[in-house]
Amino acid sequence: MGCVAGSAAGLILDALLINGGKRLEGEVRISGAKNAALPILAATLLADEPVRLANIPRLNDVTTSIELLGRMGVRVTVDETMSIEVDSTTITEFEAPYDLVKTMRASILVLGPMLARHGKADVSLPGGCAIGSRPVNIHVEGLRAMGADVEIDNGYIRARATRLRGARLVLETVTVTGTENLVMAATLADGQTVIENAAREPEVVDLIDCLNSMGARITGAGTDTLVIDGVERLHGTDYRVLPDRIEAGTYLVAGVITGGLVRVRDVRPEHLEAILAKLREAGATVNTGDDWVEVDMRGKVPKAVSLRTAPYPAFPTDMQAQFSALNAVADGTGTITETIFENRFMHVLEMQRMGADFRLEGNTVISQGVKQLTGAPVMATDLRASASLVLAGLVADGETRVQRIYHIDRGYERIEEKLGLIGADIRRVSD
Ligand code: EPU
Repeated sequence: MGCVAGSAAGLILDALLINGGKRLEGEVRISGAKNAALPILAATLLADEPVRLANIPRLNDVTTSIELLGRMGVRVTVDETMSIEVDSTTITEFEAPYDLVKTMRASILVLGPMLARHGKADVSLPGGCAIGSRPVNIHVEGLRAMGADVEIDNGYIRARATRLRGARLVLETVTVTGTENLVMAATLADGQTVIENAAREPEVVDLIDCLNSMGARITGAGTDTLVIDGVERLHGTDYRVLPDRIEAGTYLVAGVITGGLVRVRDVRPEHLEAILAKLREAGATVNTGDDWVEVDMRGKVPKAVSLRTAPYPAFPTDMQAQFSALNAVADGTGTITETIFENRFMHVLEMQRMGADFRLEGNTVISQGVKQLTGAPVMATDLRASASLVLAGLVADGETRVQRIYHIDRGYERIEEKLGLIGADIRRVSD
């Protein structure tokens, strides 16, 4: 995930201006999942034929991934519907340089595929981040256990291997991109790899489904044990990326926090269970269909909720800031405990400036809901923290100016348009 300054310098100065107090009503179409699209774009490096991808979200992080592939000499064609064709057979460079990795940590995802298919990869170390230290030791140790020679040199991970070999890997922590990197590396390894304590996130499952459609032999997707039988080659495929459960969750919170009625469409309700349970606890009536979820909060003030983040299927860390916004204006006391990242609380200080009654104790935010937040200029240098400030702005009295929104553009497609369509008073301005 990106941590330092955004790549598109002009957009850094964009801000969102929100006039709070509007009740949101209507339907929002949810885009493809950022955190599935990024590993799947990296996985195209494994194929010896073109790969066609649909439902890729229009996001800064996707643009950065395409730029990274382009710099490697990979041919990427994007049409106006964001269907993408990637032909990695033209690759000439095996490096992910610092200037791209620093804007998007997920660039680390090219490490496993490049090494597995080409025997070499030089990837800049991502370093620290606005939400925590975020080491990549598990990615590196896993590749070493598969026979790679990996050195850390001048801020770069330099990995070499003739052919990776299957291994039994027990991951010391559940890591999403770590699991993804190692699964991708194992697809072309000699023999069988078993990954224990693997991440079970839907985005990991989506990557595995895509890899299997390219000819990989992976079983156990969605469980904590993955078995990968290495194959000689992966071929092209046509694959549609799954919907973004975090984008969906964010719009549902927008509906609940404004006392509205919001339906998200093109989603997989089963991936939203932990989030929906908390929205019900907050007092929302939640209805679901095959590919939609609706929250009805008309005439009600939300009740504060308490939650703890943990790997899927538990409550996602990528939704805790949004629930802090909800708790800020809810009835009663709530506690939100972050267990994945050590410092994911940038929104807390900013919401306090809007009048939120928050106390931060270690990795827990204790909130006492207030009747009304007040608009203020705010900013955050983390994607989900920025999104939570937009939510707070939707219910604040007066004008909220959310600055540095290139972070939001990394993970939310046209947020001001989608919110505007359901009744928010929000617009993008140059700061
Ligand atoms: N960790 C290690 N060593 C490693 C890798 C991870 O100690 O080698 C630790 C991390 O420090 C952290 C924990 O493991 O404490 C889990 O981190 P994880 O590796 O799962 O995070 P990630 O793969 O870097 C992905 C998402 C994040 C999301 C986390 C947790 C992508 C591209 N990013 O990051 O998404 O928060 O999983 O679910 O999939 C976002 O979209 O806003 C975002 C930050």
